[in-house]
Amino acid sequence: MTNQGNNLDKWYGHYADRTGGLAASEVRALFAVASRPEVVSLAGGMPYVSALPQDLVTSAMERVMRDNGPVALQYGSGQGMPALREHILEVMALEGIRGSVDDIVVTTGSQHALELVTKLFINPGDVVLAEGPSYVTAMVVFKSFQADIQHVPMDDYGLIPEALREHIARLRADGKTLKFLYTVPTFSNPAGVTLTWERRLEILEICRANNILVLEDNPYGLLYFDGQPPHAMRSVEEEGVIYLGTFSKTLAPGFRVGWVLAPHAIREKLILANEAAVLSPSSFTQHVIAEYLSTADWKAQIDTFRGVYRERRDAMLTALDDYLPDLSWTHPTGGFYVWVTLPDNLDSKSMLPRAVKELVAYTPGTAFYADGGGRNKMRLAFCYPTPDFIREGIRRLSTVINGELELLSTFSQTAPLPVVRPEPTMINPPANLG
Ligand SMILES: Cc1ncc(COP(=O)(O)O)c(C=O)c1O
Repeated sequence: MTNQGNNLDKWYGHYADRTGGLAASEVRALFAVASRPEVVSLAGGMPYVSALPQDLVTSAMERVMRDNGPVALQYGSGQGMPALREHILEVMALEGIRGSVDDIVVTTGSQHALELVTKLFINPGDVVLAEGPSYVTAMVVFKSFQADIQHVPMDDYGLIPEALREHIARLRADGKTLKFLYTVPTFSNPAGVTLTWERRLEILEICRANNILVLEDNPYGLLYFDGQPPHAMRSVEEEGVIYLGTFSKTLAPGFRVGWVLAPHAIREKLILANEAAVLSPSSFTQHVIAEYLSTADWKAQIDTFRGVYRERRDAMLTALDDYLPDLSWTHPTGGFYVWVTLPDNLDSKSMLPRAVKELVAYTPGTAFYADGGGRNKMRLAFCYPTPDFIREGIRRLSTVINGELELLSTFSQTAPLPVVRPEPTMINPPANLG
């Protein structure tokens, strides 16, 4: 950066070029307002941790301190605690994954894993293929390493293989370097859709044939409501998939414990990168989780979470049917999110201040695209508010949307509609966006 200092930041000219990828989002300030208790927030993807009995965690912590305090309070291994990695194998087996404890690296949440993997592979200008729409804070990471994010479209069955093929061919013809495909194939964030088994196989085949790694991010796979989803992509492909898991949604995000299951050679580099970044992931929270997993009925607890989120998903879909029957939206069979399509002439981002004024918040669709797409989309999260609040939130949202449509129709009778230009890339997440 060649800019000199400005009034707000004397060091403005000192930042690395990649810091430009961390530009603040224009909706961030609004989200501070949206976290007030009178606002029904359908914006953030915060797990409902109150459904986790606190005494289960307290007793695990007490046992850790009593039996293993000095070790739990010490630095640990850069790869993560062996006993926890054994448990992680059991967790992944539920989604058809077989691997070796040696190939697991424990990270500070899967967000940190995204950072480490990107750091290992991305040079400025390298292409990251990312499903469109994509998890906002993954894109923040990709941008901060100056990746060229290229979206591949999805439909109700997930990423479209034919579109992936076309994108690869076009980008290769343009001389681009393609490093990996980023995907959340199960109960995606934000679209709430799940990639079919047939497409999983086809996409793996396309990536194999084109020498492109698959970065499979799977925080929601165990939170299914209507039967088990297809097994993870990693269950059929070992060498070409870097798999990310986390305890944030099946236990609690406050522990900040996630993991990577990587092909053996990559695993070695990940450990070095992990050590460079944090020396070792938190010994204390790894010990507590290992203790919890070996003493509590954690599968029953995941089932409890499924029940809570299923009820909230149902409340949201019913309320959408009742209050906004003319819109369309996805029908998630697990996870946290519904992706809503508004009429073409509505802009979810410019509508957000009015929504917050009506005491409801959502995440505008443009947050989930690096290229200005998603203007008439919004993500609604059903994970945190109770069913009654969800219903009330959708009622308020319908007032906002209908008011906006009325306004536009009044305008269109007197003057041409204002041209709504796509917003410039907006990749930074508002606080607690998830
Ligand atoms: C798709 C996806 N990946 C990664 C993360 C980060 O999770 P963690 O808490 O494990 O860092 C989230 C959090 O919402 C997410 O939705």
